[in-house]
Amino acid sequence: MRKTILTGDRTSGKLHIGHYFGSLKNRVELQDKYDTFIIMADVQALTDNYNNPEKVSENVMNVVLDNLSVGIDPDKSNIFIQSMIPEIAELTVYYSNLVTIARLYRNPTVKTEIEQKKLLFGEKGEGVTYGFLGYPISQAADITAFGGDLVPVGADQIPVIEQTREIVRRFNSIYGDTLSEPEHLLSETPRLKGLDGNEKMGKSLGNAVFLSDTEEEVLEKVLKALTDKNKIKKYDPADPDKCMVYYYHKLFSGEEAKIVEKECRAGERGCVDCKKQLAGNISNFLKPIQEKRKYYEERPELVEEIIKRGNLNAKKRAEEIMKKVRHSMKIDYFS
Ligand code: TRP
Repeated sequence: MRKTILTGDRTSGKLHIGHYFGSLKNRVELQDKYDTFIIMADVQALTDNYNNPEKVSENVMNVVLDNLSVGIDPDKSNIFIQSMIPEIAELTVYYSNLVTIARLYRNPTVKTEIEQKKLLFGEKGEGVTYGFLGYPISQAADITAFGGDLVPVGADQIPVIEQTREIVRRFNSIYGDTLSEPEHLLSETPRLKGLDGNEKMGKSLGNAVFLSDTEEEVLEKVLKALTDKNKIKKYDPADPDKCMVYYYHKLFSGEEAKIVEKECRAGERGCVDCKKQLAGNISNFLKPIQEKRKYYEERPELVEEIIKRGNLNAKKRAEEIMKKVRHSMKIDYFS
């Protein structure tokens, strides 16, 4: 039997090149070898956007298009919407009994996110909700309700997958062997830094290049990228390792990157020209992605059909697994 991949994205905004290298690229390569399910995590997106439901629902289509545009093939992969599979919510409730509140607070991913969202959760995280704190439980349900064996994700998600494994072990030890433990699958490229040099490229951090950015938008953003602060005049020599423009050249400019490095160190290269060259290369990289996006954008009925088919296949899987779960938990009345 083929193994199953379960992965996905929160639908709180368009996806960017950080998502591409961190997880999209990987899932495109894996879809040939595995039964692939890709979740549009709108319920999870609501945990920190509960007061902005339009943002969450409007971005479902964006994230579906992002996935299709990078090469997710709807004949190989199932794209589905989290809120349309109520079995996930049911499983989340059962799992909630198996996780302590202290354990959730210790999850490094959750910890970092609470710190980053002071506006929403307060200076000391005193306003953090039950729903947000518990999102790793709901993510454990996302994965296991479909029998996900492998979960290709970015490095920031490892603690969430680890917590999923704990929940599965606890479930099996209490209710009997029912579920299998998933494993995370890391992409080769480390997490992309933001244009401003921030460790994380993030839509909320304003340092991201989106897959759907126009040439003008890419150029505008790249022109603001962080460069070596010691370089004042156009032909001062500089250290490319302190420059985000060089950091991206290495990813998007192929052989040209070597020349960039040499000329930068020698003081033979102005930053503006260097940035324009990079912006051009990023836009060239995005071109085929955006052409594919346009194809699907012009065919909304096709996209709707793709999602409906994904939902149907996902629902079938979840129903089967939930039968086993309820049986193990002795709540399979009248069956
Ligand atoms: N938490 C993931 C993120 O923020 C999105 C996600 C939701 C997910 N459910 C998932 C990823 C299940 C993998 C598997 O990117």
